[in-house]
Amino acid sequence: MSCSNGITADNLHRLTTVTQRLIASSEKRSMSTLHDHPWDESVTGSPYLRKRERISIYGTEYWDKASEEEIQRLSMEETITWWSAFIHLESLVVEYYMRQLNDGAFNDLPAVIRDYMTHFIKEELVHTLVFKKSITYYGSEIYPMPDFLRSFYDDNAGTGKYPLMAVYLTMVIEWIADQYQRLDVDAEYVHPMAKKVVHEHWKEEMRHIKWGQTMIKNLIHTDSEFKRHAQELTPIYVRQLIDQGVTNIDCFDRVGFADPAFKDTETVLDTVLYSEHRQKLNSDLVTPLLHYFITSEIYDESYRHIWDMHGFGNDLDVLLDKES
Ligand SMILES: [Fe+2]
Ligand SMILES: [Fe+2]
Repeated sequence: MSCSNGITADNLHRLTTVTQRLIASSEKRSMSTLHDHPWDESVTGSPYLRKRERISIYGTEYWDKASEEEIQRLSMEETITWWSAFIHLESLVVEYYMRQLNDGAFNDLPAVIRDYMTHFIKEELVHTLVFKKSITYYGSEIYPMPDFLRSFYDDNAGTGKYPLMAVYLTMVIEWIADQYQRLDVDAEYVHPMAKKVVHEHWKEEMRHIKWGQTMIKNLIHTDSEFKRHAQELTPIYVRQLIDQGVTNIDCFDRVGFADPAFKDTETVLDTVLYSEHRQKLNSDLVTPLLHYFITSEIYDESYRHIWDMHGFGNDLDVLLDKES
């Protein structure tokens, strides 16, 4: 059975059921700017905000060139740069989806989708406020918006009836960001506020990711141009996002390393991005995403060379071998 917009009753049913469940979960519990974090406990000592093994220079010759204080400060700044990126992205998310909602972009889908959007927008708004508070809490300052984000939603406008590319890329970014953050704070010595900020955010982002995945799975066939773009562009975007999550060279400026080797930032960046240790961390991070790309037809063999060119060949082979 198919409706006039090419969406089957089965698609609508799945979309509605999952979305209703996500709304119910959001109404049961969602983040507060005031009540969910230990704001009143002040910072003492020199907190680590990122697990040592996940700090950019770990596993490279730069680790031994840095003092303990510099490493600790880098662990802070590399987390702050992530939180800054969230503030920038999620502000755009709020603005973009609010506009889509006002323009009626989802009007021919079940009303529950619009209801979900209002919950989603509220959550992202709270997130930006909480990340701002967290950066202030640690006495640091927000980093400027990365260039690629500036025109993100203009560059990825929809090709069909629904803004599927925006929904899709928002989901992919949320997913990579959450993989990073969750793994970054996964050590007993990571400061409790950083852990709380990440865990509370993660709980809500799980809903957003699930919704994005469900939208794509049930609507992908309505927009063949979107599907082809997603198949072709995903390896490029994912490579870019994973590499940008490792560090931000401005963090090195803020730490102000004493060893002159850190002055050559291009070499530092090349070394941390391509270290053997980093390849292992990247594999762990990207595996669940690759699994999703394969099962949702985003991965298509005719674009295999693009995946290989961007360094995903080995990880894909492992998953494809398992499935065959
Ligand atoms: Fe968020
Ligand atoms: Fe989100």
